[in-house]
Amino acid sequence: MRTPIIAGNWKLHKTVDEACDLVTALSAQIAEVSDVEVIVAPVFTSLAGVAAALKGSKITLAAQNCFPEPQGAYTGEVSPALLKDVGCSAVIVGHSERRQLFGETDTFINRKVKALLEAGLQPIFCIGETLDEREGGEMYDVLQRQVHKGLEGLSSEQMQKIVIAYEPVWAIGTGKTASTEQAAEAHAFIRGLVSGLFDNVTAEAVRILYGGSVKPDNVDALMAEADVDGALVGGASLKADDFARIVRFKPTKG
Ligand code: 13P
Repeated sequence: MRTPIIAGNWKLHKTVDEACDLVTALSAQIAEVSDVEVIVAPVFTSLAGVAAALKGSKITLAAQNCFPEPQGAYTGEVSPALLKDVGCSAVIVGHSERRQLFGETDTFINRKVKALLEAGLQPIFCIGETLDEREGGEMYDVLQRQVHKGLEGLSSEQMQKIVIAYEPVWAIGTGKTASTEQAAEAHAFIRGLVSGLFDNVTAEAVRILYGGSVKPDNVDALMAEADVDGALVGGASLKADDFARIVRFKPTKG
């Protein structure tokens, strides 16, 4: 019922030319895929070029960040409206790298979620616990706080437009992916949080992606879990072959 999403977060990688080459190769490799939504999130400077390279393709464009004001004296920032103008339909918010390296708080992320919805863009809202938090038994509290504060003040209708990405921080860029059991448990917990905050219909409609060292050789098992509705892929989204294989996942119980 929930259409899967495979999204590539390119982080701080690739020049404009490299970015355009990558999406051109990727579009050709996944031309026959019709039952998966495919999203790429290049660096800001590549968005216009990639948007042009994607004309006629089913792949859609996302940005990796935004500032929650439409315009003004905010040197160095980019608004949701400008991201829409350049061809984005979604924006990643709340990524753990922004939380950890740039001090972004749940409250600030909530402002971004609201600003994106107001501009007609889809937030890809990231949450996830650190290793210390998991080992200290705080995982559920952390996820609950991130969901409650990050999604505060939204209607059920708005919530259904949001995609959640569960990215355990200890699995990002480490090659240590969560086990299928760990992913299944966290995703079910998160869906329960959405149900509690909104309602069951909304919770069943929301797509929850897994992120953290997703590769061609582990995506099939992850996608076999009922509450895993897709993947947010970092490193493996930088190579057309690997990302195309992830897009063509075949759910397989381990
Ligand atoms: P990796 O796939 O490189 O672990 O990165 C995951 C991620 O942070 C996607 O947003």
